[in-house]
Amino acid sequence: MEMPKKSEIEKAALPIEQASGMPNWFYTSPDAIMEEKRKVFSPGWVGIGFAKDVPEPGDVKPVEFLGDPFIISHGRDGVVRVFHNACRHRGVKLVQEAGKTTGLLRCPYHAWCYSTEGALKQTPHVGGPGIHTHEAIDKSKLGLIEVRSHTYLDVVFVNISGEAPPFEEYYANALERWQDFDKPIFHGGEESSFKLSVNTNWKLAVENYCESYHLPFIHPGLNEVSKLEDHANILGDGPFAGQLTRAFTEYADENGRNFASFAPISERWNKEAEYIVFYPNVMLGVHKDHTFSIILEPVSESQTLEHIELYYASNDMRDEDHAAMRQDLAAFWKEVFSEDVGVVEAMQDGRKADGFDGGHFSPVMDESTHHFHRWMAQHFI
Ligand code: FES
Ligand SMILES: [Fe+2]
Repeated sequence: MEMPKKSEIEKAALPIEQASGMPNWFYTSPDAIMEEKRKVFSPGWVGIGFAKDVPEPGDVKPVEFLGDPFIISHGRDGVVRVFHNACRHRGVKLVQEAGKTTGLLRCPYHAWCYSTEGALKQTPHVGGPGIHTHEAIDKSKLGLIEVRSHTYLDVVFVNISGEAPPFEEYYANALERWQDFDKPIFHGGEESSFKLSVNTNWKLAVENYCESYHLPFIHPGLNEVSKLEDHANILGDGPFAGQLTRAFTEYADENGRNFASFAPISERWNKEAEYIVFYPNVMLGVHKDHTFSIILEPVSESQTLEHIELYYASNDMRDEDHAAMRQDLAAFWKEVFSEDVGVVEAMQDGRKADGFDGGHFSPVMDESTHHFHRWMAQHFI
């Protein structure tokens, strides 16, 4: 199937009352992901991993995103960086497994060695047996190829093309809105980390996350405490959108114990919580006592891996004394996210209907979803 004509794609960028959603091809064709890689993922900022997975200087982790291998490296200088995971000699994938580097990162092929900051340090026998230098091999120019990166709410974002505006500029309005959370966050540990493999296109997970319209039908439990009418859309002046609730209640266990709150924090967060998708693939949620970060990893046009991680405001929340509370909150979110699986998979199934025209938006309830469709469409028209 050919990529749809511009006139078809343009319909997603029309005013919401007249718009229809992005054409089926973007959800069902294996070619769509590669087109999106070229036009959406590479030029923008995408989430590829979590800084908590490289907690200490010397820690490295290999990750793949849309087939590209990367290394997330916590340098001995304390800086987390991302490199293309390919040796500068003959291109062997350098880091195969996550772990601690005690010395240098050593290529398994001819043993060229790199520092965790990416510098090429050793090139054994490169000038002949026993001669470890050669004038043509300038070590200072052959460090690992760095990819522009930025860590926010523990998500390691990269800009693969190197040409996007700086992260702080790209998402400026979202970052300003969430200044109160621009502080250290503390991952809850094992029970605060889960993955959902969902048989859907990554965009449908975004579209579902953006809206609260489905709340009474899909999340009856959540809807009891935070009702549909307590929600509002967040329409980004920038590449983001989402929703907020004005009926947030902080977690309390059966003895009334709470988690520590972020501090200082504006009073509005006593009652509000916000959920924003940083386009294209990072879904973030903030509450006065915890945050979560979700990376959508597109596995294929019809499969998405959701990497979900929960964080707290203080290191003390990670102790044994709070284990049951963390378990409880993680179970709550796991249930909520799992409730969405059926519908995002069913939307994917519906997209196989050839005659489906991309769908229609409620001008009131689907503003955020439409915002995302329009943003996607603009990359292809
Ligand atoms: S490919 Fe890495 S040292 Fe040769
Ligand atoms: Fe949902």
